[in-house]
Order: sequence, then structure tokens, then C-alpha cells
Amino acid sequence: MSREPNQQQQITQRKQDHIRAILEDPQVERHSDFEQIRLMHRALPEIDYAQVDTSCAFLGKKLRFPFLISSMTGGAAQNLQQINRHLAEAAENSQVAMAVGSQRTMIRNASAEESFKIRQYAPSIPLIANIGAVQLNYGFGVDEIRRAIDILQADAIYLHLNPLQEIIQPEGDSNFSALADKIARLAEQIEQPIILKEVGSGLSPQDIQLGLDAGIEWFDLAGHGGTSWSRIEAHRSDNDLGILLQDWGLSTSESLYLAQPFIPQAKLIASGGIRSGIDMLKSVVMGARLAGVAAPLLQPAMTSSEEVAAKIAQFHQEFTAGQFLLGIEKFADLHFNSDLILQSPWHSLSKKRSG
Ligand SMILES: Cc1cc2nc3c(=O)[nH]c(=O)nc-3n(C[C@H](O)[C@H](O)[C@H](O)COP(=O)(O)O)c2cc1C
Repeated sequence: MSREPNQQQQITQRKQDHIRAILEDPQVERHSDFEQIRLMHRALPEIDYAQVDTSCAFLGKKLRFPFLISSMTGGAAQNLQQINRHLAEAAENSQVAMAVGSQRTMIRNASAEESFKIRQYAPSIPLIANIGAVQLNYGFGVDEIRRAIDILQADAIYLHLNPLQEIIQPEGDSNFSALADKIARLAEQIEQPIILKEVGSGLSPQDIQLGLDAGIEWFDLAGHGGTSWSRIEAHRSDNDLGILLQDWGLSTSESLYLAQPFIPQAKLIASGGIRSGIDMLKSVVMGARLAGVAAPLLQPAMTSSEEVAAKIAQFHQEFTAGQFLLGIEKFADLHFNSDLILQSPWHSLSKKRSG
């Protein structure tokens, strides 16, 4: 599957265009609906703030708190390599998980490989490799998937699902037919867990069911509410379809809500528009085991690993404060605990009156 040099340049250029769009167009960032979810404050939490334990486990490794650096980048260019190095060093220092951007670029292109050799900077944390699932319809198979895992010495691999992005992208790969079968066959042959992931439009119950039937256990919902890939690709397109569809999809909280019947068979990661430790907390209460953050880490990652670590520390402080104010000492009591969600009191009041 050797890629023509001009195709390689195109992929690298596309990555740079994506970064520019995120940094220069504030409307690429959409609005999440996490503020609509309210949690039950405890005035007598009956625990010591200093004893709040946010740690949890992911893929057999301990994390300081359920934070994942979501997939962003990688490629031949120097700045892409730097971003991944800064993210990896910060993930290791902060004891959180990290995923890389699509590794399609490095398949048989040695110059892009270097940016994905990040295990040296992050020896102890969970690392997630990443390939677009649609590439299984464009010549990729078990060898390419293994290669993506090996270069990272990854603990798992994302197969990202981005049908909206691919149809807006002028050079997109849009044949998504019969992918579930191919994913099922791959899952039988790959030792590491496969995680199905959207990129900002959310996974539906039907998607999760197809995934479970294919032998997949992990799902990153990556819903609407943060980075809009439809809008980003609209910048590179000659029409306005990407603008029209910039808010298409399930929000992260809608996707989480709809996925609840599949817990615990399905293990969920929430991402898309997670902008504070409180958004993370709400996701965990609603059933996510981990919450992923991408765009807020981009600018810090262009500067230094210290800047990335400082941003992660801010999320940790917010998460810990929220967990304390719910009166919860341990992560296990937080996860998928609907008692912590405040039901709107006004709703039952109006029912009483009409009843
Ligand atoms: C700069 C940037 C590059 C991204 N590249 C990829 C990618 O290559 N593969 C992928 O699966 N997701 C990619 N994503 C999507 C994120 O992993 C995530 O699913 C989505 O942006 C929602 O998270 P956010 O709202 O926190 O940004 C990228 C996101 C950003 C911000």
C-alpha cells in the first residue's frame, strides 16, 4: 500500500490546515450542553477534601484521574512531532492516558513514523494508536493495524469513524459500506483492544450495538459540543455543506444518555466538548470511565509539555473539587451513579399540579 509522495504531502498539509482552522476560527468550537446536567451538591459531604481519591484504572494501568488526551496529530513535519512529544511527556508526568492522531500518514512513510514513537516519553501510561476505520475499505488490513500499534507500543487502538468529515473533505474516503464485518474480523486477529470512536458527532445506540456484535468492548462517544470537523473541513471545501452540518450529530451528553442501557458490556469514553473537570465529572457520573479532551490542549502542546501539564492540572483540580462537593471519596462510587444527578424539582412540581 505504498502511498504516492504527493498523497503524503497532501496528508501532512491537511494536518497543518486543521491546526490553523482550530487556532484561527473561534466558531470551530461549538457549544456543549453539559450545563443542562446538574449535580446534587452536598453541604455536609462528610469527607475530608485531602482524602478525595480521583484515581482509576484504564487498560490495566493506574491513572491519577480519568483524563485522556484525545487524538490529535502526528506526521512528518517538525511541529507535528513536537506536539506529540509535548503531549506524551505531559501525559506521563500527569499520569493520564494519551491517544495519537490518525496514523494513516505513517503507513510506509518512514519520515512520519518518528512522530508516533512516543513510548520513549511516556513509558508507564496507556497509549492508544489510531487509524480511520474507513481505511479498511481502502486497502488497510491487519498488517497496517499491527504496524500502527507496534510503532507506539500501544495498549489499544482507536478505529475512528468520521463519515461526516469524509464527505465534506474534498479528497475524503466515503465508502463506509460493510465496515462492521471487517471490524469484527480484525477484532479476532488483534491482541490489543479496539476502541470505536467518533470524532465529534457522537455514537448512536445502533452504532454501539453493531460494535458489540463485532466483539468490541470500548467506545469513545466523541459527540458534538466541541471541535466541529464539519466546519473545519468547510474551510477546505468549495461549498457550504460543512457549515450547514457543523452542528450535526448527537451531543456528548445525549450520546452518553442513549448508551446507558449498554453499560456494563460497553465501556464508555466521553469526549467532544469536555472543557472542564466538572464536564468530566458529569460524564463519569453518567457512565463514562474516562473523559477525553483534544482542542484545549492544542495551543499548550505547541508551546511545551509544562503548559500541557498545567492545563491537565487545572482539570484535575476542578474534578477533585466537584467530587468533594458530591461527598464522594472514591472513583468507584462516582462512576455511573445516577443518584448524584439532580432531577429538576420544577418538573415534579408541575406534574403534581396537573395531576
Ligand atoms: C487538532 C486536532 C486534530 C485531530 N485529529 C484527529 C485524528 O487524526 N483522528 C481522530 O480520531 N480524531 C482527531 N481529532 C478529534 C478529537 O480526537 C476529538 O474526537 C474531537 O476533537 C472532540 O474533542 P474536543 O471537542 O475536545 O476537541 C482531532 C482533534 C483536534 C483538535
